Amino acid sequence: MENKDSVLVVDDEMGPREALRMILKGRYEIVTADSGECAIGCMAERGFDVVIVDIKMAGMDGLQLLRKIKEVKPDIEVILMTAYASVETAKNALRYGALDYLIKPFDHKDVTDIVEKGVAKRREHLRTKDEIKRLHLATTELSREIEDAKRSIENHYASTVKALLAAIDAKDQYTRGHSERVSRFSAFLAERIGVPPDKILALEQAALIHDIGKIGVEGSILKKQGVLDPIEFDEIKKHPSIGARIITSVEFLQEMMPVILCHHERFDGTGFPERLKGTAIPLSARVVAIADAVDAMLCDRPYRSALALDHVREELSRMSGKQFDPDIVSVVLSGGLLECYSGIFDYQSIGG
Ligand SMILES: [Fe+2]
Repeated sequence: MENKDSVLVVDDEMGPREALRMILKGRYEIVTADSGECAIGCMAERGFDVVIVDIKMAGMDGLQLLRKIKEVKPDIEVILMTAYASVETAKNALRYGALDYLIKPFDHKDVTDIVEKGVAKRREHLRTKDEIKRLHLATTELSREIEDAKRSIENHYASTVKALLAAIDAKDQYTRGHSERVSRFSAFLAERIGVPPDKILALEQAALIHDIGKIGVEGSILKKQGVLDPIEFDEIKKHPSIGARIITSVEFLQEMMPVILCHHERFDGTGFPERLKGTAIPLSARVVAIADAVDAMLCDRPYRSALALDHVREELSRMSGKQFDPDIVSVVLSGGLLECYSGIFDYQSIGG
């Protein structure tokens, strides 16, 4: 059986209640109540699509009932009825949220038209409510999918960096540990010089694989214990360009490009591979260049022992404005930054 729309008729006089029942019963399910209090009770038990309320009733009058209904169930359409129609009546009815009003004695067509209007409005309201609910669920689901995708990209990113790092480590034992320390010092330094937090993570990851190009350099040169001859040094100097070529086709690694390509540029323009000068060298690369050199100085190398902190300070001062950005050097040398960094890693036990 088809579910009919339901109408609650509230009037303390039986005559109008029954008149409305007779007019409407063919199209709607009709329930009647003889007072405002009784109507509230009916509505607590079940829902209605439209409520028709007499304005003049003993006890709770029609306008009071209308306000109560709108407080509790604002989406139910209420139609007021009165024997004394006036502009004031209509104004009051609409002010309190009624849909319309009916005048006693009832005109059959007016009643069916106005109730139908109420039912149509109620249906529209329910449709909108359902649509909002559906959109809310869809938005929640979409947000969850975006979060999942973001997590998956982050995992993908981290595992790619990890794989590249393992590839460098396998080729060049010196980089094992070195890359991680350079990465941490770079992040530490970047924070001190005011690099925005959302850029620091990318800088940290880039520093981790800054020497990725060494994969393409002859192993015997990388592992050579003594000082490199000019030809060998030229080979080593290719690693930033090789690194850039390795990551060039990996779209999500492009933000690492400045560090990988430019970490051997020198502030005075005598570095490699592009001989960039001063602030033409990306800031991230200038940071990693210092972190890279500091870590190298603090470690034993095949051809020399680790330098003491004072010696590292002297070297940084000496190379400030030549190899390194003088502004970043002054940050490293101030506020105990170098001591703090070297304290994080136990360089005595690292050895090199
Ligand atoms: Fe390098």
